[in-house]
Amino acid sequence: MATSTASALKRTIRDQLAAARERTLSLLGPVGEADLVRQHSPLQSPLVWDLVHIGWFEELWLVRRLGGEEPARPELDELYDAFLHERAEREALPLLCGEEAFAYVAGVRERTLALLDTVELDSADPLLADGFVYGMIVQHEQQHCETLLQTLQLSSLELPDPEPARPLCAGGEAVVEAGVFVLGAEGEPWAYDNERPAHEVELPGFAIDRWPVSCGDYAAYVEATGAEPPQFWERDGDGWLRLRFGRREPLPLEEPVRHASWHEADTYARWAGKRLPSEAEWEKAAKLGLLEGTGALYEWTSSPFRGYPGFRAFPYREYSEVFFGEGYRVLRGASWATAPVVARASFRNWDYPIRRQIFAGLRCARDLKEAR
Ligand code: AVJ
Ligand code: FE
Repeated sequence: MATSTASALKRTIRDQLAAARERTLSLLGPVGEADLVRQHSPLQSPLVWDLVHIGWFEELWLVRRLGGEEPARPELDELYDAFLHERAEREALPLLCGEEAFAYVAGVRERTLALLDTVELDSADPLLADGFVYGMIVQHEQQHCETLLQTLQLSSLELPDPEPARPLCAGGEAVVEAGVFVLGAEGEPWAYDNERPAHEVELPGFAIDRWPVSCGDYAAYVEATGAEPPQFWERDGDGWLRLRFGRREPLPLEEPVRHASWHEADTYARWAGKRLPSEAEWEKAAKLGLLEGTGALYEWTSSPFRGYPGFRAFPYREYSEVFFGEGYRVLRGASWATAPVVARASFRNWDYPIRRQIFAGLRCARDLKEAR
């Protein structure tokens, strides 16, 4: 790699690492010590677990694996490996707390930055080519920031509103003619293994709504069918209130609906005479520029989370591969809480179909041949 390119890449990496850390600290800054160590929901870790896990994961990849250095605190391996303890059990572990937790992640970051000065971003090593492993760590921290925000939404803490203005839904449908497109990441050096390899997919024609389903649409469905309202809705006379980051607000009827499970989203779409799009349909429509309101909320798709043909786990099986199968559904797009460094048209998120805590909504699609 030419020296100028390598130094520009290092500058990008330093900026991205700094931006992720600034965000983590700004999310946790207003939270008091008691609320940092508390389990706010059985679905989520204590906030301070995510914090130290972010630092532990950075140390594992950027200091230990890359630098060949010893861990600062080997006893943390047993506490912060996400596969060793269920989230609901983490509160009972002897977690680092308070200043010790913040000091640990800061200490790791110092060693990361010192090593970055000397490392050669050698394009022959797939971990280092285009700074891949640094991109992985940046995205890991940013994705845990989304997790922190889910925890804060599930808590009753009233914090500074972290959310930008929401889009207002309109109507309309886009028709995508039958044909081939390229599914997956092309020319995205920091894309995850599950976005690769990019490959051609041929889809029959379909129609997809230009906008996600609105709160008003969903409220009409709840009224008509007696279906469960989404999480965080409360009855208010004939209408609804919504709880958002500790605030009760009138349900904004034109905003995209959020916090319905995959099962609820799927049932809604069928009730509306439509269906959820597959992830391939979603990506094709997105790459054609046909979707509005993207980037506000993830969107549930009909697709189970699977590897693409020719999938190879890289650099570790536990990011994607261990979750492949019928148990999870793919969410596409990005939410307001998703950092730009993560939000690619090929990015795939996933969760259990019963879950509602993700900042996710839905959009409907339909087959063309079944149009009436
Ligand atoms: C891709 C959001 C499902 O939070 O479980 C964080 C991201 N992987 N640490 C998750 C992740 C390892 C992952 N999701
Ligand atoms: Fe993680």
